[in-house]
Amino acid sequence: MNENKGLLFEREYQESLKQQFYYADEDPEYGKRLFFENSGGSLRLRAAVEGKRRIEMFPDCPERIHARSLILKEMVNGGTKDILETVFGARGGALVTELTASQAFFQIMGVIMENVTEGKNAVTSALEHPSAYDSMEYYCRKTKREFRVVPANPKTGGIDPEEVMKYVDKDTCLLSIMSASNISGNIMDLKKIIRKAKEINPDIYVISDAVQHAPHAVMDVEELGIDAMNFAPYKFFGIRGCGFAYVSDRVARLAHHKLAAKPADVWELGTSAPGNFAAMSAVIDYVCSIGSKFVQSNNRRKLFAEGMHRIHMQERALLHRLLEGTEEVPGLRSIDGVKIFVDTEDLTNRDLIVAMGIGGIGFTECVAEYQKRGVTVYERINTSLYSKRIVEALGLEGAIRVSPMHCHGTNDIDEFLKITKQIANDFAK
Ligand SMILES: Cc1ncc(COP(=O)(O)O)c(C=O)c1O
Repeated sequence: MNENKGLLFEREYQESLKQQFYYADEDPEYGKRLFFENSGGSLRLRAAVEGKRRIEMFPDCPERIHARSLILKEMVNGGTKDILETVFGARGGALVTELTASQAFFQIMGVIMENVTEGKNAVTSALEHPSAYDSMEYYCRKTKREFRVVPANPKTGGIDPEEVMKYVDKDTCLLSIMSASNISGNIMDLKKIIRKAKEINPDIYVISDAVQHAPHAVMDVEELGIDAMNFAPYKFFGIRGCGFAYVSDRVARLAHHKLAAKPADVWELGTSAPGNFAAMSAVIDYVCSIGSKFVQSNNRRKLFAEGMHRIHMQERALLHRLLEGTEEVPGLRSIDGVKIFVDTEDLTNRDLIVAMGIGGIGFTECVAEYQKRGVTVYERINTSLYSKRIVEALGLEGAIRVSPMHCHGTNDIDEFLKITKQIANDFAK
């Protein structure tokens, strides 16, 4: 296999995967469309939505002793274990559950910053989502620490480990670097960043916002030796209404909101929603089923890791096709008028996202032109409170974010390229 070109699923298999998602090729009221906005919320796995619906029909409290309650309780307990061990690859720690991934991150940020007394500064990057950036700024102000921001590399769209080390010192209590950019798709070299940061300060806490990266590649908190990582099920083939995060043993034991009678490392607070766990278990089953097509194992983590690896390879192949096209259909790199931002030859450190623009047409207008032609994409621009700092950190005014997902096929990519060429021709100066 050529690493840079990824590896496509066989056509029939890819189509069978797409069948497992709702409305992959059409909106039930607005008709046929290509949904290339999976970074804003991914296509929904039927089994996840169904799993949630099935469980929500039961009124039983999971804390009772009758059969239905026990099933619901097991869904929460088993689901918690599954998310920690299978998704995060954790051997310990605790699961934090909130209504959103942003809430989970604010919660964890606060617990670390308010409990850890050492360290006069905290470090994050200019590319972070506001939930990671603003939470650190807020708690730096509250705990009277210096707030340090590592600039992005505007060429690669990423954060260079060497640059991070210019901001980390013996007095850094917390380092927070996202796993991958939600604008450029650039995957950060967290392994190197964490290793180097710990060489400077062995006690440093390191956390990572993995909301963008989680649906594209496997996470491994043990390998990274990280203190916290979060993801959002609604961007990971699942449902809205919950955010999950892993915290390491040492973070789990720090003082946090909990019932006094519960053990020190319990983060569960109030009655859990078994349906949310049922939905996430369905997502994990789905990824494992992809893994089981390629390896034989009874180990769920192994199947999951293989499944995510295959998803990553399929997505890299789609990214390659999007950029390079074929003999019949030119790729984005060669369509006149199309500009790809923060493009890199090496695709091995990229998730399936392309940040682009088309000459002669503004970002918002361009998104509307795509929509008219049956393609859903989204613009990240410097007039949006979510995007301003991030796009400007990359030296841009904005970008159209194109984010297909693994269940799409090469025919979908080709269709997108043909439509892009039409728009570029129509608006050429
Ligand atoms: C990189 C990243 N982090 C965090 C979030 C926040 O997720 P949520 O909406 O679940 O709070 C998002 C959502 O867009 C994101 O893209």
